[in-house]
Amino acid sequence: MRLVCGIREDAALREAFFDFVPAVFEGLSFREWYERGCWPDSYRPKAIVDDAGSVLATAASSRLRVLVDGRVQSALQVATVGTRPEFRGRGFSRRLLESVLAEARPDDLVFLYGNDTVHEFYPRFGFRRVVEKEFVRYRTDRRDSGCNALRNLRLADGNDFETLRSLAHRRAPVTERFGVLDYAPILLWHALYVVPTALVLHQPSGSIIAMSREGDRAIVHDFLSGDPGTFARIEDDLFPPEVRELVFEFTPEKLGVEYEARSLHPPSDLYVRGTLPLSGDFQFPALART
Ligand SMILES: CC(C)(COP(=O)(O)OP(=O)(O)OC[C@H]1O[C@@H](n2cnc3c(N)ncnc32)[C@H](O)[C@@H]1OP(=O)(O)O)[C@@H](O)C(=O)NCCC(=O)NCCS
Repeated sequence: MRLVCGIREDAALREAFFDFVPAVFEGLSFREWYERGCWPDSYRPKAIVDDAGSVLATAASSRLRVLVDGRVQSALQVATVGTRPEFRGRGFSRRLLESVLAEARPDDLVFLYGNDTVHEFYPRFGFRRVVEKEFVRYRTDRRDSGCNALRNLRLADGNDFETLRSLAHRRAPVTERFGVLDYAPILLWHALYVVPTALVLHQPSGSIIAMSREGDRAIVHDFLSGDPGTFARIEDDLFPPEVRELVFEFTPEKLGVEYEARSLHPPSDLYVRGTLPLSGDFQFPALART
């Protein structure tokens, strides 16, 4: 058994990592993301590997520049913490997490998103669950703009993927309450594996919205534009009149529209190590989570 890093650079380790991921995180993968050149230096998984070269457990970090109330702050988002079911309870995650956390600098904000099986797990490592809000916009003045300039992006099409990649790198942050400056690689991972059918190009403005419809509600996962205020100008193009409610998966203060904060049910799974220097209502962008 050995603890390894440098997984992206080592072909055998990388393959073992790609085999491991869907065995522990159902339905997820990193293969195509890597093959399309999206894996950045800032995403650094570590693994425990057996003598045959199989990955038994992983923990990773993504180094980011986050925005906290408009201030740029260095951050480490912990990710991909998992152990194959048959190897759990042997201290592998503890060893890996301690190694990942040792890389944090004193001024880093260290945070992660968990799930409902690990509420008691992360507090053992100094993390505390933090309450986020959900942001809702009730559309009272709904108009049919007559615009048919929306086009679904098909990521299998290389041109559409490049359109998304290019804007993901150039876009301005949708929020400065608790947001991120440089999360294009994470967004592209979500685009490939989590919301592949939710990406829509608004052709006149060149903006891209990631959204899913649930009856008369639309869940807005992200909005990509050089100027997030574009949203207010094209809202009636983006949503047909029957959409009465928009639910934003980020704090939408830069979009130029009115909205309300409400409690999240169930609460989200944001954990912060130490203290998050932020009060009031916020939600970290969904497509920047790992
Ligand atoms: C949660 C998980 C990563 C733990 O991995 P593991 O290798 O079994 O963990 P370890 O053996 O290193 O345990 C470390 C400590 O956490 C405790 N622990 C392990 N799983 C726990 C859980 N689900 N809840 C609370 N405590 C837990 C252990 O008792 C141990 O405590 P100690 O070191 O203080 O004695 C593993 O169960 C897993 O892969 N789950 C599925 C994937 C997942 O949900 N990952 C989290 C994504 S955010």
